[in-house]
Amino acid sequence: MPNPSGVTATIDIGRGPDGQAIGIDLAELLATRLLVQGNSGSGKSHLLRRLLEECAGQVQQIVIDPEGDFVTLADAFGHVVIDAGAYSAREIEELALRVRQHRASVVLALDELEVEQQIRCAALFLTALFDAPREHWYPALVVVDEAQMFAPAAAGEMNDEARRLTLSAMTNLMCRGRKRGLAGIVATQRLAKLAKNVAAEASNFLMGRTFLDIDMQRAADLLGMDRRQAERIRDLQRGQFLGLGPAISRRPVAVQVGAVQTSARAGAQTLIPLPQAEEGAMEALLTDRLAEAATQQQPVRCPPPPPAPHKDLEEAITLPRVLPEVKPTAAPLAPVAEAPREAAPPPHAPPLGSGTTLEEIVREIALAEGAAYRPAAALFRDFAIRCRQSGIASTHVDLTRFRRLFAFAISGLDQLKGDTRIAITSAAEGVEDDLLAPYLAILIAAHTGSAMPDEDELGRLYGSASPSRVRRLLDHLERLGRIVVREDFGGERSITVPMISAAA
Ligand SMILES: Nc1ncnc2c1ncn2[C@@H]1O[C@H](COP(=O)(O)OP(=O)(O)OP(=O)(O)O)[C@@H](O)[C@H]1O
Ligand SMILES: [Mg+2]
Repeated sequence: MPNPSGVTATIDIGRGPDGQAIGIDLAELLATRLLVQGNSGSGKSHLLRRLLEECAGQVQQIVIDPEGDFVTLADAFGHVVIDAGAYSAREIEELALRVRQHRASVVLALDELEVEQQIRCAALFLTALFDAPREHWYPALVVVDEAQMFAPAAAGEMNDEARRLTLSAMTNLMCRGRKRGLAGIVATQRLAKLAKNVAAEASNFLMGRTFLDIDMQRAADLLGMDRRQAERIRDLQRGQFLGLGPAISRRPVAVQVGAVQTSARAGAQTLIPLPQAEEGAMEALLTDRLAEAATQQQPVRCPPPPPAPHKDLEEAITLPRVLPEVKPTAAPLAPVAEAPREAAPPPHAPPLGSGTTLEEIVREIALAEGAAYRPAAALFRDFAIRCRQSGIASTHVDLTRFRRLFAFAISGLDQLKGDTRIAITSAAEGVEDDLLAPYLAILIAAHTGSAMPDEDELGRLYGSASPSRVRRLLDHLERLGRIVVREDFGGERSITVPMISAAA
């Protein structure tokens, strides 16, 4: 196919049997897509990483990353990591549109989510990429690792709606994405588990070590090999692939994938000699001051704060504001567009004050006017940005934990100390996150003997100005046996907490 951009770029992926360089033609790859198959450990993710590294900066890259393996591309190549757990469904869609608008290279890290959420999130994101307005149809590689999850051949345990959503997203990507600039690169452990129409749309294949006959046969069919030749696929070593297709080679060619610059976050599972410990020393190491450690609020691990580079681009796509239009002047395959600078601080945020600890930052966010009315994901994002600005490590605080800290702060629990605080925290155990702040305020009043929060105050803590919602909240807490509500004939309402009155 002629190269419409006039730009030639070859991605060097490794060496052939005679030591010759084996490359993938980038322009051709954009037009004809790629399917990678190989058993676990055959080197698929390594291959994808090599491919991404070798063409980083030449073409926009969008990585759907179920394991969070590819987030390390951020340090070396400036990809923006989208931590899927921190955003709502609508925000994920909006992010996808901005990713296309600004031609940002991103990694959608799904590792914090449950499998079904991963699937929904990826489907929403892919669909929004696909539905981007025509003026943003720039060429981009869309890499989907573990593609059998997102385009399963059989129904499995996934619910029908999620399955329909994800299959349509993946089919759109592979079948109709090309016209919109999206070039799918999918990797799977098992061809037999990948939906046939998704596999069938790739014209380029890289087949790695494969044990099961059914997968080997499928791979051989795609490579145009007979049964006997197909045995080669079984004998491949880790990191070796058979390649075929218009972007790679007209005949099946063996390639040993070359080295990579970045590493997977988890690192390789190599055998490291076990530490030698004196008799009893290991047990002491494990049990030393265990109870104390277990009662500490903060987890011990404190990963370093995320790297600062490429902040402009990251803020450009994550900040909730309308950004100035980036003129689509670049031709396909031109260097990725610069994102606009001068991102504004998040809305509703008070100026950065004295917040020097993580709890103080949460408190500042919680006490800002209207805080409870804002979506948790937006609050969480402010929190992450402020921590980063203050040089405070916050990656150990996920959205769930943040919501609890937020409830502690907005209800005033964080200002209490000692036994009262412990008693209230344990009384609130098991209460859903969105009910926590008003419930804590009720518990605090019951414990300290101060006035019960009125309807307005409960509404403020609950993030709702609607009296009927507040009433439903109280009904719900009452049904759960958490509170008892008495309303007298005059309409006066009193709230008691059974556990506390019983204990009193
Ligand atoms: N070409 C290569 N050169 C050097 N090391 C490699 C190569 N390919 C793979 N490896 C190493 O082999 C291990 C397994 O590779 P990788 O994670 O890419 O497998 P995979 O096919 O993605 O497996 P899974 O399906 O379980 O995710 C990794 O530690 C990787 O670094
Ligand atoms: Mg892998």
